[in-house]
Order: sequence, then C-alpha cells, then structure tokens
Amino acid sequence: MCGIVGAIAGRDVVPVLIEGLKRLEYRGYDSAGIAVVVDGAVRRVRRTGRVSEMEAAARAEHLSAPLGIGHTRWATHGGVTEGNAHPHISHDSLALVHNGIIENHEAQRERLTKLGYVFESQTDTEVIAHLIHHHQSQGLDLLAALQASVRELDGAYAIAVIDKGEPDRMVVARMGCPLLVGLGDGENFVASDVSAIVQATRRVIFLEEGDTAVLTRDGVQVYGDDGQLVARAEHLSDVSLASLELGPYRHFMQKEIHEQPRALADTMEAIIDAGAFEPALFGKEAEGLLREVDGVQILACGTSYYAGAVARYWIEAIAGLPCTVEIASEYRYRKAVANPRHLIVTISQSGETLDTMEALKYAKSLGHDKTLSICNVPESAIPRASRLVFYTRAGAEIGVASTKAFTTQLVGLFALTATLAKLNGRLDAETEAGYIEALRRLPVSVQHALNLEPQIAVWSEKFTPKQHALFLGRGVHYPIALEGALKLKEISYIHAEAYPAGELKHGPLALVDADMPVVVIAPKDSLLEKVKSNMQEVRARGGELFVFTDADSNFGESEGVHVIRTPRHVGVLSPIVHTIPVQLLAYHTALARGTDVDKPRNLAKSVTVE
Ligand code: G6P
Repeated sequence: MCGIVGAIAGRDVVPVLIEGLKRLEYRGYDSAGIAVVVDGAVRRVRRTGRVSEMEAAARAEHLSAPLGIGHTRWATHGGVTEGNAHPHISHDSLALVHNGIIENHEAQRERLTKLGYVFESQTDTEVIAHLIHHHQSQGLDLLAALQASVRELDGAYAIAVIDKGEPDRMVVARMGCPLLVGLGDGENFVASDVSAIVQATRRVIFLEEGDTAVLTRDGVQVYGDDGQLVARAEHLSDVSLASLELGPYRHFMQKEIHEQPRALADTMEAIIDAGAFEPALFGKEAEGLLREVDGVQILACGTSYYAGAVARYWIEAIAGLPCTVEIASEYRYRKAVANPRHLIVTISQSGETLDTMEALKYAKSLGHDKTLSICNVPESAIPRASRLVFYTRAGAEIGVASTKAFTTQLVGLFALTATLAKLNGRLDAETEAGYIEALRRLPVSVQHALNLEPQIAVWSEKFTPKQHALFLGRGVHYPIALEGALKLKEISYIHAEAYPAGELKHGPLALVDADMPVVVIAPKDSLLEKVKSNMQEVRARGGELFVFTDADSNFGESEGVHVIRTPRHVGVLSPIVHTIPVQLLAYHTALARGTDVDKPRNLAKSVTVE
C-alpha cells in the first residue's frame, strides 16, 4: 500500500505533490509527507493524519520548490507517528519515499548501524535511504547508488529519491509495486497511479519490474534490471478527471454505488455489440486455451473473493465445470494439488493485491499455465502476469469499500461462464440470446434497485444503534449475504456475519434475539420456500427480519418482518441486482453513525502487503 508521487519542473511542484497525494489517499491515509530540494537544501514536512493536515503545515512553512517527492502511508513497519512517516532522509542530503516492504531490512539495519548510520524511525524504508547514502559515500552518483542499493534489497518496492547535491534530477526504482512516469512539457512526474498526475499529463510510461529511471525536466531515461538503457512504450491514459472527482455526491462510495448502471453497461458493451459470448472477449489466444479447460480455480481477496464465490455457482451449474474458489492468502501457502487443465482465474479490482499476485505466481509454479485475470486497472501487475484478461470498465473506484468493481466483476465472470458453456456445447442459441437480453436489461434493473434508496435509508435507522447484525442467503445469493456483511462491518464498524440460511440452526441461531437484526436476501428463486422456513426459525426466537425480495415474490410484511422489494426477478443475474440494496444499507448506516465512509479506520484500498 502507500502512495508515492514526485515531480521535477520549472515551476513550484508542491501543489502538484499535494493534489497527487490527495488522489492517492485511497492507498493509505494514516500519515503523509513531502520533501523538496530548494536552494541547495532538503526541506521536509510530515504529519500524521490526512493529507489535508500535512498540506496546512506545508502552507504555513511556505514550502515551494521545483523538485519534490511525496508519500501517503498505511503503516506496516513502525506505528503511526510523524517520525515513521515518509519521506525519510539520510544525512540531511537525500530524501526518499517508498511503497512496499523490504524483507531483509533487519540485516541491512544492522550492517548500516555498524557503518555509523543512526536510525530515527522504526521503518524498513529508512534502511534504503542510508544504503543509498552509503553507496554515494563510496563515490557513486545518485543513480548508480540507487542501482547498487536495490541489488541488495529483498522484497517489494517503488522508490523515488531526490538529493540536494543533484538538484536537476530525480531517480526512481520499481520491483513488485506499481510505478509509472508521467511525461510533461519541460516537466516530468512519477506516481503509483495515473490519478495522481492526470491533472498535469496523460502521457505515461509504465515501469517494469527491476527498472530504474532518471527524470530530469527535459527527459526520462529508463534502465532495465541489467542496468542497460531500455525503451519503454508511451501510453495515453484515458482516466478522466470527472471520474476522480466527487461531483454532487457526498462520498465516493455513494457516487460509485450510483455509477453502477453506467459501469455495467460499459463493461458489457463488447458482449452486447457482438450479440454473443465470444472467447475473444478474453484475449487473442482465449479460444484455444479455454477449449482445453476442464475445471476452474478462482483466487482472490476481499470483495473480489465474494465475486468468485458467486461465479462458482454459475460455472458449475451453467458451464458444467468443477470450480473451486479460494482466498488467495490461503492458497499461496498450502500444498495445493495442481491440475494444469484447470483455468486459474484471479479477480482483483486494483490488479496489485499482493496475496492475489503471489497466489497466481504460486499456481504457475505448480504447473498451471492457463491463467485469466478479471481486473479494473489496465496495465496493472496481475493482468500483466496472466495470459487472458477481462477488463471491467467500472472506472476509477476510490471508496475503500468496493462496490461498482464487484458488480462489474460479476458481469465478467458471467461472460466467462457463458463462454465456457458455449465451448463445452452446453449453451444453445436460444439460451445464449436469453442471457444477452438479460445483460442488456441489467442496467435498468440495477437502476430500479437504486431507486429503493429512500426506503433503505429508513431501515438504516434501525441498524444504527446496533452492535451486531446477521446476513442470510442461500445458493448463489449466499455470497451476496457475505458481501452485505462485509460492507456493513468495514464502513459502519457494526459486527456483521453472514451465513447460508440453512446453516443457521447449527450455531448462529443461538445469537438471535430482539437486538440482532437479521438481513435476508430472499429472491424469487427455487430456494425461496427454504429461505422462508429459515426466517420462521428467526421469528420464533424474537429476531427482527429485514428481507430483500423480488417484486414478484409472494410474501408480505408482518410483525417483525420488514420487506423491501427489488425489481421483478431477473433470473440468473439476480445476485447482481440484490447487491445494490446491501450496499445502500451499509452506506446509510455508516452515514448515520458518522464514520469516515470512504476511508474506514485501519483499512486501505490497495493492499500490497501480506
Ligand atoms: C482491500 C479492499 C477491498 C478489496 C480487497 C481486494 O481489502 O479494501 O475493497 O476487495 O482489498 O482488492 P482487489 O483490488 O484485489 O480487488
């Protein structure tokens, strides 16, 4: 996690750094800092708390310079203190920001301490600053010192360094964490993500693993891991400023919930245009590769894992292929039995979640070479490491709690299911046409579900004072119950758990009393009658039920049973529509509890540590 930004220009870069850090805050938000080189000296401002607090301090100090770096932190090594905030400085001459984790920092710290370096923080990062300084003291210039230092580091890093002795350049390095260079006119930039610099330029170079680079005002040179100059392609980013701004909304989460009809329509555009499920949706070599697949193994974390849990129901029922879904951090450390004919599907909004990336690498090491990534961030690490890719087109997702990424992932996974079914001869033309039509109608059904917001806001008042909540679902809607509980706990801090409704009687029923609201996802599918019986079990123990069901299902309100009706049952895509109300319930409950909806405590959006 952590976000880094840097700029070298003919103008004052401090406003660029601060705006960039505000856009990177989703990557971590417990402290922030900037360092600049000006008038032959390094100056630094750091603060715990949000970027806005550091900004006020930088203003008070009238910080202004043509060369600088900035960082927003999510603490790993060392607590949330100003002393642990980046940038870190060595000998008052060089300043450095870092995203990632240095695994051999203890050994390096010991070595550097023996060489006389005095450490001021508990971070792994400070080691890098002193290591570079040490190499400089051996006669190397800043670039050579950085290159020599990274050769001695184990772990993951994106690094940007400035030095008062070399005021006309910045040096950077990348291994295992994202870093891109932005190309301006007489000015150049570096950032963890394009959103940080899009106000200045859209021309970007994605650095590759092992790259180092030098940025001056007039140019950028990139060196490969062998130290030789390399040419890296320039891309034009299509991230829009509007997608990064709040507009009329109160929170990014609210904006992103309401963007879902558009995000879904954009994600399925190619499918609707083709009027068919074509393997080419997943890449050039998809047809040959998917034909050979006789099972699917899904790997992901967090909300993306729940998308995979929905897909498991679809893939087994529709494509007739065995499918397992596993939390990436578990898979990567167990002795898994590989079946190379199984397709490894990684799902990741950010494309950089470390556990998911490492699970993918582990799967490959076990002999899996059929890999597909479902991802929202083009050119990010996980899709780049996969042979096939489906990009969700949700647009930038900034709220830490994932919303539109989840529903668009489900569209990608449904398209995969239908494509595999077709290749297996299990999808006749009529069913395919029916699925395409269901997709076409989906944005409208989702909009109808969004229109339930006022009713859901009223319900949220009942949840606001509670300490606990239970979510129930069955079948393909069980993962939606899981997602509803995750949303509620992460942004409102109410303890919430989800159970398959049939499992209630095996334990969680003991928790049910009048203080435990029970949310039930109860669409009009073949399991509705079973779910109703489970609801009776709750009612009989005095539990209060909050039921989301379809407009055309046959049950109404009664004492202790509140009902909100989503649109008419949409068939196989029902989990997507039923996600909307649980998102809105969590959002309004958090709003009423006054939490920081977009930046919940202790969390970060992009988790690039174990
Ligand atoms: C973090 C985020 C979640 C997200 C998870 C996986 O925990 O807060 O919203 O679901 O990471 O992230 P990914 O980018 O891999 O989907």
